Amino acid sequence: MAEAEAEAEAEADPKEENESSYQRYKILISSLPKEEGWASENYFCHYQGFWYPDILCPGVFAVQDHFKARSSDIIIATTPKSGTTWIKALLFAAVNRGMYPPTYNHHPLLSENPQLLVPFLELRLYKSKIIPDFDILPDIETLPSPRLFGTHIPFTSLPQSMIDSGSRIVYLYRNPKDVFVSMWHFNNKMRAAVSKPPLSAMEAFDRFCKGVSQFGPFWDHVLVYWRASLERLQQVLFIKYEELQADPGGVLKRVAHFVGFPFTSEEEKEQGLVDKILRLCSFENLSSLEVNKTGKHSSGLGYEAFFRKGKVGDWANYLTSEMIERIDQITEEKFHGHGLKFC
Ligand code: A3P
Repeated sequence: MAEAEAEAEAEADPKEENESSYQRYKILISSLPKEEGWASENYFCHYQGFWYPDILCPGVFAVQDHFKARSSDIIIATTPKSGTTWIKALLFAAVNRGMYPPTYNHHPLLSENPQLLVPFLELRLYKSKIIPDFDILPDIETLPSPRLFGTHIPFTSLPQSMIDSGSRIVYLYRNPKDVFVSMWHFNNKMRAAVSKPPLSAMEAFDRFCKGVSQFGPFWDHVLVYWRASLERLQQVLFIKYEELQADPGGVLKRVAHFVGFPFTSEEEKEQGLVDKILRLCSFENLSSLEVNKTGKHSSGLGYEAFFRKGKVGDWANYLTSEMIERIDQITEEKFHGHGLKFC
């Protein structure tokens, strides 16, 4: 029986399988609760406790169904606008520093956007666009270890193999007020790209506070990773954008050690590798590169949209005192008793 199944599997046409999975996913999507989206998606779908843009759902389901993790995999998990681009660049540079020293003239980060070098599982690798030749089974099996991937999928919805394999997960968190401001700007750029009028700050803020944002509720996303980081010290590292801004060298060393690529004292002190990586991945450097000024994301959006100000506390320039009170109160209610501290 097992042999017959294996034979049948070997004979199965991957294109047909993709098509039948895609049809299954479409039925599932149509059954999910929906809310209006923020940008180019048609709507958000509520799945396993979180809001997903409909166009990303097939990618998320495909990751859950098909991704086979390796213990050596390194996963960068974030909510959108928490500094994903930065931590992707830092980890890519740190993990690959043997092959690509940070001062190498042809370093991949000089010619590719970090989002491409550390692809999102659900966005890029498990293609999420609703297209006829839907390609849900990319050949990521052939990638050499350690594989570096990004994801916005909440911890509770990650594929089981990722948890069981012991892959390392680095979760970057950012304070909700800056995340909101960054998200509002970013979504309005995406709206402009598809000729939609901008979303007012008030409207976006109300949706964010109700939890209806990409991969939201924001607070729940942070909490599931926070709990996981307490329960699985060896597997999930929880770091903050604000800490990365205040002590980038200290955080980079901690992250590199956690993923199994610690800096030796010679690398740090004599070769100055930590500082060189920080310079390579700094906001000023990355945002001034031609690829990030004029290059385009697969969605059609310019990479420049991923580099706005790169500062802590820009929310003070946008939020009214009522908005601050509301968001602070939600944060207090959601995180109370969990031991999660804020800057
Ligand atoms: P702002 O909009 O507040 O400027 P993500 O990468 O998760 O989409 O997050 C984008 C946010 O990270 C943006 O925040 C962006 O400017 C900031 N960012 C991008 N690259 C950065 C870097 N190298 N250093 C610091 N912040 C960076």
